Amino acid sequence: MILSRAGWWTVFACLAGLAWIFILHFRSWILSRGKKLPPGNMGWPLIGETFYFMKPHPSTSTGTFLQKNCKLYGKIFSSHVFGQPTIVSCDFDFNMYVLLNEDRLFQSSYPKSVNSILGEFSMLIAVGDAHKRMRSLALNMINTAKKSTGFLNDIEWHALYVFDHWNHQQDIVFSKEAKKFTFNLMVKQLVSLMPGSPQSSQILSDLLTFMDGLVAFPLNIPGTHYSKALKSRSRILSTLKGMIHQRRNGNDVLSGDFLDSLITNTNLSDEEILNLVMDLIFGGYETTSTLIALILKFLTECPKALQQIKSEHEAIKRAKGKDESLTFDDYRQMTFTQNVIDETLRLGNVVKFVHRKTIKDIKFKDYDIPAGWKVLPILSAVHLDSSNYDNPFEFNPWRWQEPTTGKRFIPFGGGARLCPGYEMGRIEAAVFIHHLLLKFRWRMREPDIPMSYPYLDFEKGLCISVERL
Ligand code: HEM
Repeated sequence: MILSRAGWWTVFACLAGLAWIFILHFRSWILSRGKKLPPGNMGWPLIGETFYFMKPHPSTSTGTFLQKNCKLYGKIFSSHVFGQPTIVSCDFDFNMYVLLNEDRLFQSSYPKSVNSILGEFSMLIAVGDAHKRMRSLALNMINTAKKSTGFLNDIEWHALYVFDHWNHQQDIVFSKEAKKFTFNLMVKQLVSLMPGSPQSSQILSDLLTFMDGLVAFPLNIPGTHYSKALKSRSRILSTLKGMIHQRRNGNDVLSGDFLDSLITNTNLSDEEILNLVMDLIFGGYETTSTLIALILKFLTECPKALQQIKSEHEAIKRAKGKDESLTFDDYRQMTFTQNVIDETLRLGNVVKFVHRKTIKDIKFKDYDIPAGWKVLPILSAVHLDSSNYDNPFEFNPWRWQEPTTGKRFIPFGGGARLCPGYEMGRIEAAVFIHHLLLKFRWRMREPDIPMSYPYLDFEKGLCISVERL
């Protein structure tokens, strides 16, 4: 077959395009010749190993991609994911080195889809002074809330609100109920919305779409998850914006919530306030509900732990008056519950990894890592490593009864970005579990697995049948 002149040009253009893609993909490796990069594999041009890395797997395992690469190359290896040359680390020391050197050697670096959905002022994305300022406001709010008894009462009220809607011998999609609880609680504390109000229901439905978009391919054409997520983000922002205007114009009574405190005590712009509120909803809602769902699953599968935690909560209840609310003293007595929470975070791995990039050339042990490379510290790999924990795949809350100093445990990240809500999440989970244990007996309707997509969700929603006690 003889090609026309136009045909030759088309073939030439295609070959040149392919060569360009090839050069772009391997440029970072070519440029780092002479340096000792961690060993690894760059995968396919353009997509690299992204699909292997993102392949869903049980969150109680590290998944085949990490298993295979750690075996071939060691706990620190090179790859190419999310369109960038990347160092993946399952090594505790390197992960801590990354987390503790934020802004000196490394910086937060989330993929484009996360950036545009969370917004440029989001704390997860902001770096340097902008990050520090937003973070200190968030810490302030969380610490003030945590110290007030009103906070514990709020948690109890919202847990009981969920349980009041459960009937005797009803089938429940538990992960959905746990999400309702943490969402209702969060929007009450932040902007004083009550459960079931039209605004709160609208924000919840938008938030669910918003979460889907975070791991979607960033293609903004109508109908894609990404485009729907961008739309739901704008709807949530416009609802919150309406609230700020009402309060600034005195059309709404100030209710002493977080939004009020940001409006009256700071000089943040509306845009910054909106993003901070969104960060706290986003950071605190799904993580804590996932923790609660995981606790229920692990306890159901371990009758000895279920019996022990139940006895602990019955004893706390016995020592109180009939309708007396929980206090921080009661919370401090939930010692076995804390062991269950730690073990659940370790084995269940609510957050699998965090996103960073190098801002300088790095030397770690024998390896050189060039500036501009993506770095993914895998938190779950540290928790499931048999050199860090005996029988790491076994649910054993009693392991936390031994002295915990030196435990290699990073479910909340670390360093300058250590989760500001880590204690809040634990308190919410403990109070919810307290009332669940005292009010219900349950059985699993079918086996279910927590999957890392990489955000964590139960395949079937964790369906249980409950019986009121
Ligand atoms: C079981 C519950 C939770 C888990 C496992 C968890 C986990 C994490 C992790 C791993 C990070 C670090 C992200 C990074 O380094 O890039 C983080 C950051 C964050 N979390 Fe949590 N979190 C939980 C609960 C909460 C709660 C209840 C709130 C809000 C009240 C919250 C708000 C945040 C915020 C705002 C950040 C960003 C911090 C920063 O960039 O400085 N989290 N969380």
